[in-house]
Amino acid sequence: MAQSLVAGLAQDLDATGWRSQFHPDLSPLGWHLGHCAFTETYWLQEVILGDDRFTAPVARLYTPPLTPKPERGKQLPPPPALGAWVRELQSINAAILDNPSARVSSHPLMQDNYLLHFLIQHYSQHFETMVMGLTQQALASDHGDINVASPLELQTGTPKTCRIDAGHYKVGGPAPVACDNELPPQQATLGPFAIAKQPVTNSEYLAFMEAGGYTNPELWDTSGREWLQASGAAAPGHWRRNPAGHWYGVGSRGPYTLTGDDVLHGICWHEAQAYARWANARLPHEHQWEVACRLHRLEQTGRAWEWCDNPFYPYAGFRPFPYEEYSAPWFNGNHYSLRGGSLHTRPAIKRSSFRNFYQPDKRHIFAGLRLVYSL
Ligand code: AVJ
Ligand code: FE
Repeated sequence: MAQSLVAGLAQDLDATGWRSQFHPDLSPLGWHLGHCAFTETYWLQEVILGDDRFTAPVARLYTPPLTPKPERGKQLPPPPALGAWVRELQSINAAILDNPSARVSSHPLMQDNYLLHFLIQHYSQHFETMVMGLTQQALASDHGDINVASPLELQTGTPKTCRIDAGHYKVGGPAPVACDNELPPQQATLGPFAIAKQPVTNSEYLAFMEAGGYTNPELWDTSGREWLQASGAAAPGHWRRNPAGHWYGVGSRGPYTLTGDDVLHGICWHEAQAYARWANARLPHEHQWEVACRLHRLEQTGRAWEWCDNPFYPYAGFRPFPYEEYSAPWFNGNHYSLRGGSLHTRPAIKRSSFRNFYQPDKRHIFAGLRLVYSL
């Protein structure tokens, strides 16, 4: 499913679009397709079967650290050739899995179908990144002439919260689905807190903007002020104003009307922090989010990734798999955890324990926030 969605997104683009880099952090869409097919072939054929016939010639292009993003587009084969190569590999890989030899079925990576879960989640994550690319493409070609029938109105007031008692709570992921960074499952010790039932909405965020949130230095820490100055940001990344001065949004399929009650996205961690400070609240620690989610106290999850207060870090007893670089390089203090998922997140990675992570200045990732209050 995620496999064909990735191919579908790449095929929607004309030959130039598919090689284009729409954002400094994003790869061309054709590259994602090739990288996903390469990845499943690498694990199944090269690692498990010891056959690098298909992977060796393209390993440089599709192994992220070996080819920088700006170089990827021009090295891609033309769309029909890449499409045919992807379909060929996927059908060989499917045949290997449908009728597994003893070597395949007894391989440790195949235990409990671990590798299949990994690959499906890998496709899913790249699918979402491709939607980010399409969104950036739409932003670049936006002409600003959308008619906003009912302009966004601001909304103030404190959100409905629910209380979570102090205690020891189980957190962490379910094997064999869990990624390395969700393991090992463990107990989190939490003090009492109240967490908003709903994430911050567009109308609530507009209230922060109109209250001068972006120009009040007291709401921003040093790194946030630096980001603010360098970016000149004054609204979520995909919000634009029409000639009448009304805000609208730009998504992967072009401009759309922002709805006040919709869950906000398009902000970076610095903006999430400033909003929380303005609201006399905080961002949740990721375990507060996970515990509240597991207790079914959170509404409207899965509409926008929710920035957490804490940097992405390894759980005690962390062991990298299936390869060293999957999570470990990002435990560098410069990434923050996000939970929940966005409208573009596939079900395969929507779970209470799933940890996403990005640097604090990223706004192209469909992320918003939910408030917590100390008790
Ligand atoms: C966890 C979403 C930040 O897309 O860079 C994809 C996931 N890891 N291929 C990313 C990932 C390897 C990763 N994120
Ligand atoms: Fe990848």
